[in-house]
Amino acid sequence: MDSSRFRQIVGCFATGVTVVTTNVDGQLHGMTANAFTSLSLEPLQVLVCVGKSGTCLQQIKSAGAFGVSVLQADQEDLSNRFAKSQDPEDGQMRGAAFSTTPNGLVRLDGALAHLDCRLAQCLDGGDHDIVIGEVIDGDASESGSPLLFYRGRYAGLAD
Ligand SMILES: Cc1cc2nc3c(=O)[nH]c(=O)nc-3n(C[C@H](O)[C@H](O)[C@H](O)COP(=O)(O)O)c2cc1C
Repeated sequence: MDSSRFRQIVGCFATGVTVVTTNVDGQLHGMTANAFTSLSLEPLQVLVCVGKSGTCLQQIKSAGAFGVSVLQADQEDLSNRFAKSQDPEDGQMRGAAFSTTPNGLVRLDGALAHLDCRLAQCLDGGDHDIVIGEVIDGDASESGSPLLFYRGRYAGLAD
């Protein structure tokens, strides 16, 4: 099977959209990721698959920690902004409004939910690494609607 057929097939699995954020001595970075999932309850762990050729993986390894902001339905623009490769900026986060959590991680304003994670392990996954994070903190809004990704396009929940 070629990669475009593979993408077509796995694109049928609808996901939410996150921005994975890093802070390396004040150098902030963010990357849009939908290959995110909850992994373990004991210990509390999540995983995100991060491309080996991008900037984000090295930033996660350098920081030893990462944040995960789960995007809301109205944050498609942010998803597109963080899907473009860019050198880590000093405190800018591509113009996105954000706050810094007590653990020093970046939480995007308006996100539906957020997790602070300590890097637990990076496993080889072909052209991506499977990045496992131990969850150390987080929050979720009581209401709101998620941004979804399905068949290569953004989508939303039906009312
Ligand atoms: C909806 C969406 C989901 C994405 N999911 C992932 C993902 O899970 N893992 C990944 O490595 N890249 C993913 N990407 C691509 C990255 O966001 C993109 O390659 C980005 O430029 C990488 O940034 P960096 O090189 O600065 O780390 C996704 C892009 C979009 C638009």
